[in-house]
Amino acid sequence: MAERVEIFDTTLRDGEQSPGASMNVHEKLQMASQLERLGVDIIEAGFPIASEQEFEGVRRVSEQVSWPRVAALARSVPKDIERAAQALEKAQRPVLHTFIATSDIHMEHKLGMSREQVLEAVAKAVSLAKSLVERVEFSAEDATRSDLDFLVQVATVAIENGADVVNLPDTVGYTTPGEIEEMFRHVIGNAPQADAVVFSSHNHNDLGLAVANALAAVRGGARQVECTVNGIGERAGNTSLEEVVMAMRTRGDMYSFETGIVTEEITNASQLLSNLTGLVIPYNKPVVGRNAFAHEAGIHQHGMIANKATYEIMTPESVGRGRSELVLGKHSGRHGLARRCEDMGFELSEQETAQLYAKFIELADRKKEVFEDDLRVLIATMRDETFETYRLVQLRTSGSDPAMALVKLTKGSEEYVETATGDGPVDSACRAIERITGITGKLREFSIRAATPGKEALGEAHVIVEFRGRATTGTGASTDIVEAAVQAYVNALNKYLALQSTRDEPAAGKPKSAESN
Ligand code: KIV
Ligand code: ZN
Repeated sequence: MAERVEIFDTTLRDGEQSPGASMNVHEKLQMASQLERLGVDIIEAGFPIASEQEFEGVRRVSEQVSWPRVAALARSVPKDIERAAQALEKAQRPVLHTFIATSDIHMEHKLGMSREQVLEAVAKAVSLAKSLVERVEFSAEDATRSDLDFLVQVATVAIENGADVVNLPDTVGYTTPGEIEEMFRHVIGNAPQADAVVFSSHNHNDLGLAVANALAAVRGGARQVECTVNGIGERAGNTSLEEVVMAMRTRGDMYSFETGIVTEEITNASQLLSNLTGLVIPYNKPVVGRNAFAHEAGIHQHGMIANKATYEIMTPESVGRGRSELVLGKHSGRHGLARRCEDMGFELSEQETAQLYAKFIELADRKKEVFEDDLRVLIATMRDETFETYRLVQLRTSGSDPAMALVKLTKGSEEYVETATGDGPVDSACRAIERITGITGKLREFSIRAATPGKEALGEAHVIVEFRGRATTGTGASTDIVEAAVQAYVNALNKYLALQSTRDEPAAGKPKSAESN
């Protein structure tokens, strides 16, 4: 029987450290539900010492999640470890993940600590963590640039003090497949009691080698792979979950390992993350990119017609794609809609079904064919509206130089109307919104993409807006792209207001003292 490799998903922690990927608590909860459906073994939910919001994210995910383990990150210092343990209190299967750097360059220049001091810190941190939480993971940050024999000593001390998992990260994305395999073999072969713990691999993608390195680490003895949906993460990102899982599945002849991932949920996870963060999936991204299963060349199409295996190494259905044909029309009814959503893996409450149905009818009025991808976008934007303070109820634009916009917003039962001019329809609408709300926003990034094929496609807009120095993401969807963009702006504004009301204002992101990789 194939051996099991556990999937440790760090989308909500390392992934969330991607520029522009920050998620608020509500977004983390939505993503955590999808990760649970996806079948990940561990969800790393955040870094509790970094901010109140991070703490709250871990606390709420711990309360919500039932099957996967929930992990929280902490540096190897008591205040971080105690805070992480507190955030994990409600988790059914908590994991406290503590780390310290072990490479000479990090120890000398970042920590100002000797090897002996680091070993002492590892012992203290792991034993404190173990006294507070039943399962402890220890990470030797920058392991791939650490002295191999020192790494053996570090792993030995971590194991002696109660670590259940030892992670050897490629923090800076520097290693190569041959080298990382050797590193795992060396540490596992030389640390006494290594067989009592799980070894884990966490790789960054600076040289585009993260997935290859993760697979090589598994060959070297790692039985846990840390990864993120869509490969998001610090700098060039982390090992991409969908790629590493599908590589093991498709090439079972080379990697006879299995994971617990329900691969048919990969597309839902990938798209939900993209909707929540606004990080657009590159068209050519393996497994989840729009073109990943598109065959353009005539010769390929010919082969595909004769036999799909000529050019297809995995099926779109196996990753939850390919069912995006026409799904529903205007007359499908609420029942049909609810059933389809259930098949797609979404559990909707009665209230959500009613709300979605109204949106669906509105969309079906504008475009005849409603695809699964349209439904995904509608669900994601609808769930985002839980934050809603302002609602866009009317938008009219005209001209271009200057453009003029009329915007009507509601806030509870109040109604506000303003007009403004600007450099284009979106700019003028944003100016009108500023007049209504009194809050100035700077549109830092703006992208629009079609969620489905056809000229009446639902346009999905993603924006990053800076409100009073704080970058906030927003999404919107409409068959009219200007309306989608303005909805996205209002969505970002509502998120900003929701964050303000929690009075958690680390305006420049995480405090410097709590930085991690
Ligand atoms: O990249 C890294 O080393 C990390 C650790 C905190 C696990 O993210
Ligand atoms: Zn990392």
